[in-house]
Parts: sequence; C-alpha cells; structure tokens
Amino acid sequence: MSGGRPLLGRTALVTGGNKGLGLETCRALAMLGVTVLLASRDAERGEQAAGLLRDEGLDVHPVVLDVTRPAQMSALAEHIRQRAGRLDVLVNNAGIMLPWDPWAPDADTLRRVYETNVFGLASVTGALLPLLREATAPRIVNVTSTTSSLSLISEPGSPLATDYILAYASSKTAVNMITVQYALAFARSPDWRHMKVNAATPGFIATDLNGHTGPRTAAEGARVVVDLATLPPDGPSGGFFNEVGPLPW
Ligand SMILES: NC(=O)c1ccc[n+]([C@@H]2O[C@H](COP(=O)([O-])OP(=O)(O)OC[C@H]3O[C@@H](n4cnc5c(N)ncnc54)[C@H](OP(=O)(O)O)[C@@H]3O)[C@@H](O)[C@H]2O)c1
Repeated sequence: MSGGRPLLGRTALVTGGNKGLGLETCRALAMLGVTVLLASRDAERGEQAAGLLRDEGLDVHPVVLDVTRPAQMSALAEHIRQRAGRLDVLVNNAGIMLPWDPWAPDADTLRRVYETNVFGLASVTGALLPLLREATAPRIVNVTSTTSSLSLISEPGSPLATDYILAYASSKTAVNMITVQYALAFARSPDWRHMKVNAATPGFIATDLNGHTGPRTAAEGARVVVDLATLPPDGPSGGFFNEVGPLPW
C-alpha cells in the first residue's frame, strides 16, 4: 500500500501507544518519517515508551490521553492545533478485553469494555476530526479484531468461537460499523471526501492483552495498521482488513 515511501512532514496520533501493538505502530510509522504523537493514559508510561523510540533516533513525542476522558481530548486537540495545525493520521488502537461469562449476565463488564473500545474510540475520533480535515490525505485506522467478524465466527468449527469474548468481540463489531458509518459520511460530503477510514485486525499477536499467548509478534500485527494509515489516494475506505487483504464483516 504505502510501499514504505517516506512520509516526512506528516503527524500521526496513536492511542494506547505505550505498549503492544500501539508501540510497534508508533515505531513503524516513525521509521517512515512520520512525526508520531504517542498517546498514553499514564504520563510516565508514555514518556518511557516515547523515550525508547527517541533513543532509536525516531521523532516520537508522548501525549497524555485516556480515551474515556473527553476533557483530555479537547486539551489534546488544542495542543495538536498549536503544534502542527492539523493531524494526518489517527490510529484508534487503545483497547481492553475483559472476560464475559455468558451464564452470569454482567452488564457492568459490557459497559466497561464498550466505554474504552467503542465510546472512547468514537469520542476521540469526533474530537480530532476537525484537525484531520485540515490534512491533505487524512487517514483513520480503527483497530478491530478478527473475532468481530459475524461471518467468520459463525462458520462451523471456527477457531474464533472461543468462550468469554462476548463483550470484547461485540465491541469490535461495533467498531466495524462505526468505521463503515464514517466512511459513508465522508464519501457523501465534498468537504470530507479526501478522508479514508478503515478497520484493521492485527491477528493473534503476543501482547499483555492475551498474556502473550499469540503466535505472532506485535510488529507483525502493526504492518496492516501502518499500510492503512499511509494509503495512497486510490486506496480503499470503509473496509475491514488483515495483512493479507479484505475480510468479510
Ligand atoms: N493482542 C491481540 O492478539 C489482538 C488481536 C486483535 C486486536 N487487538 C487489538 O489491538 C489493540 C491493542 O491491544 P494490544 O494487544 O497491544 O494490548 P495491550 O498490550 O494490552 O495494549 C493496550 C493499550 O491500550 C491502552 N489502553 C487501555 N485502556 C485505555 C484507555 N482508557 N485510554 C487509553 N489507553 C488505554 C493500554 O494502556 P495501559 O498500558 O495504560 O493499560 C495499552 O497501551 C486493542 O484495540 C486490541 O483490541 C489485539
């Protein structure tokens, strides 16, 4: 997709950038020449992670953002406006997974997961849209999961159909629909038609989210995220992809 072409002068924000997939996405974008705002809900963790990447010679700056705190979003938007005047790439990566027992209904768990994965993602997107609109080729990547796919998880014998993921998987299905709704809205409006938004799944990668049980690395998972974050003008919008290509919803 981007073919690894240099992207000097662009600014990207990655939520949950302090570890796992987010950290590897920050690293890979910065290696392409993008100035990366590494967002972390904890200032110290963000500074440590950004420091690690800066030691590698990369242009990475920590910013504080808890995606469940709207007041931080407006402060961050103002910070970006003053610093860069626009935002070229938003990677909505921050996410949590809490087990949900289907035999013990627990709306609170559902609410907590949706608060971060769905409401947080939608709120951050809304707060940063005016800055994205100022960019020439703005790109939003919503990090979803392969378990979000109603088609794939419903296939007989699907390995995705594991227990206890109701809250997590359904939150990511909502992320997919948010992606489609934004893509349709952008396509309808002449003012927003330059914007592309896609959903990316990294596959099963070894991170804290799953106790490092995934067989792939976070760096491998970041490839599709970076590809979609750096799409050329003729690239897709409103799609759901892993690193091999489009997936069924
Ligand atoms: N691992 C997989 O196999 C896999 C597969 C498919 C999709 N994904 C998705 O990939 C994304 C990254 O997950 P990961 O695997 O890299 O897990 P991870 O290592 O646990 O990282 C999650 C990141 O999200 C941050 N976060 C959580 N709640 C937040 C909040 N309210 N505000 C801001 N940041 C918050 C965490 O910050 P703290 O360090 O402060 O907790 C951390 O930086 C998630 O959206 C996840 O659903 C992962």
